[in-house]
Amino acid sequence: MNVRFTFGTVVSEIYIEESIHTIHAIIGSDSSCLLVCDENTAGIAASIADTGRIQVGAVQSRLRLCGTCVLPAGEAAKNWTNIETILKAAKDAGLGRDGVFIGVGGGVITDMTAFAASVYMRGAKLVLVSTTLLGMVDAAVGGKTGFDLFDIKNFAGTFYPSPLIIMPLDTLSTLPLREWKSGFAELIKTAILDSDDDFLDRIGRLKDTFVSPYFPVNVLRDEVSRRELLACIAKSVEIKGRIVEADPKETGSRRALLNLGHTFGHALEAAVGLGSLTHGEAVAWGIARACELGRSLGITETERAEKIIQLLDSFGYETRAPHPSMKETGRFMDALFNDKKKKSDMLSFIVPERRGCVAIAIEKKEIKRIIHIINGEVM
Ligand SMILES: NC(=O)c1ccc[n+]([C@@H]2O[C@H](COP(=O)([O-])OP(=O)(O)OC[C@H]3O[C@@H](n4cnc5c(N)ncnc54)[C@H](O)[C@@H]3O)[C@@H](O)[C@H]2O)c1
Repeated sequence: MNVRFTFGTVVSEIYIEESIHTIHAIIGSDSSCLLVCDENTAGIAASIADTGRIQVGAVQSRLRLCGTCVLPAGEAAKNWTNIETILKAAKDAGLGRDGVFIGVGGGVITDMTAFAASVYMRGAKLVLVSTTLLGMVDAAVGGKTGFDLFDIKNFAGTFYPSPLIIMPLDTLSTLPLREWKSGFAELIKTAILDSDDDFLDRIGRLKDTFVSPYFPVNVLRDEVSRRELLACIAKSVEIKGRIVEADPKETGSRRALLNLGHTFGHALEAAVGLGSLTHGEAVAWGIARACELGRSLGITETERAEKIIQLLDSFGYETRAPHPSMKETGRFMDALFNDKKKKSDMLSFIVPERRGCVAIAIEKKEIKRIIHIINGEVM
């Protein structure tokens, strides 16, 4: 299955494939390539390196592989030092501007590889092979790149859409359960943005498979569940892709909707220490807070807020406030005010409404409302 979007001036081709071996490709056969992966995706990168080619149906592109850069895994590695490691690996491998950076991994690796490609000799070629559910339904699509700096999530970054994004479903077979769960949070987020509840209800049904003791083995082996998973990934890619097409650099209000749960979620991640919660766990908690904020402002109907929070609960996310890992609100509030979504004295939040979501701005003087929300206090 493939889908194509135009993000600004870049046409982004996305392949959601059954297997790494059936991947299509558009890599020029003469270009030299650098594989970038982490210690958990090194095996997947090696399988690309072993065959020395990426195959598109009948067309095979041979890769002139010049090096592999293996980084430590996880959010704590999403930093400047590792960006420098990637850039140095590319330089040592002799990549020119026509060289191809191939990022093989979850959102951390694809965000960092894309950033490195965007600044390497003012812009090298880029291919992303997404290997987590979160990466497939969200991170790999739409061109946001970056890394964490000064303890602030994604503080530095660029917009650099990848012309080719590959999502091999079979790579998910080794994904730890906690990471599957993390991905479902972004899937739920995207479904809340949709104009009706069909997608949200569909994810609710997928949960029955998700909580089974045979998960994820049965999801990937069972034809029906596998097809359903693929359809949900494709739907999420479609929704995100169309939103980004309409507002590729978040200059309007469209793309900002994708930040549902993220203003609260990013502040929580920073407050408890980057890397101690998964991105999805923080986003799920943030979505629950966004529902409470919307409810307190009379924007989110109680019934809708309850439906969303119940779905998050059924997946086993922490939705209670205050979050049990958050010892005090000081660091949370600091992180909130450092958030990139802050404009002068206004904080921007996305809250669910009857259909989809809406962006709202909260003035600094109204900050008590936010403190009540994160502490779970009734207003
Ligand atoms: N650019 C965007 O638009 C965007 C959107 C959402 C999230 N993000 C970013 O994405 C990141 C989170 O992505 P993530 O959840 O994929 O995290 P991740 O990249 O850290 O991957 C999660 C864990 O799974 C491991 N892993 C990856 N693929 C695997 C596989 N197939 N088998 C076994 N283990 C595997 C990784 O090594 C890591 O330990 C965050 O930094 C977030 O800011 C970016």
